[in-house]
Amino acid sequence: MQIAPSLLSCDFSKFGEEIVRMDKAGADMMHLDVMDAHFVPNLTFGAPVIKMLRKYTDKPFDVHLMISEPLKYIDDFADAGADIISFHTESDSDIEETLSKIESRGIKPALAIKPNTPYDVVLPYLDRLYMVLVMTVEPGFGGQSFMADMMSKVEALKKHAKDRNLDLLIQVDGGIAKETIKTASNAGVDICVAGTAVFKPEDAKQAIDELKSLCE
Ligand code: DX5
Ligand code: ZN
Repeated sequence: MQIAPSLLSCDFSKFGEEIVRMDKAGADMMHLDVMDAHFVPNLTFGAPVIKMLRKYTDKPFDVHLMISEPLKYIDDFADAGADIISFHTESDSDIEETLSKIESRGIKPALAIKPNTPYDVVLPYLDRLYMVLVMTVEPGFGGQSFMADMMSKVEALKKHAKDRNLDLLIQVDGGIAKETIKTASNAGVDICVAGTAVFKPEDAKQAIDELKSLCE
């Protein structure tokens, strides 16, 4: 299991140091939650902040766009150093066009779906995707409870990918903790985003190690 710490739970007054701390703790990638106070009822940070953070680690930047018009900003996030960009099927941008834009910048494209969105909306794009992000909470805030019933989407997507011989990764985001990660792992999840579960404990390395070992 790969663990992607969600920096939404970090101490924002030490953003760079927090990235270094997660790098040393064994994070597989850095999950950066971009919110526009329109697509979701919360506001975080954008491309200029991500660009400043890029120098703190060589690990991939996994940018989760919770914004209404992702297409308009793909170039900004590409210039800022994103490695993976996830955008929501529920956003206002054209999916096809946004994927093409991400591909044209040599970035790994991912589609994200909210809890009430059926998994089959991503099927027409499956062969172009590096990853599908299945939200296991309503996007907007950290510290919410894991929705185990989303695992049926994970299983269905894994099956579609296998039948079509695709190397698709499935990521889940929201409520991942010691108590829930095994459920995700059993369903076939490849990458777990974890905010509270890695930032709250004193020892982030121990927290990440423990989350990973629970999946073995
Ligand atoms: C929610 C964000 C998540 C969130 C996860 O909209 O996309 O990445 O920070 O936080 P936890 O792990 O605390 O649920
Ligand atoms: Zn996220």
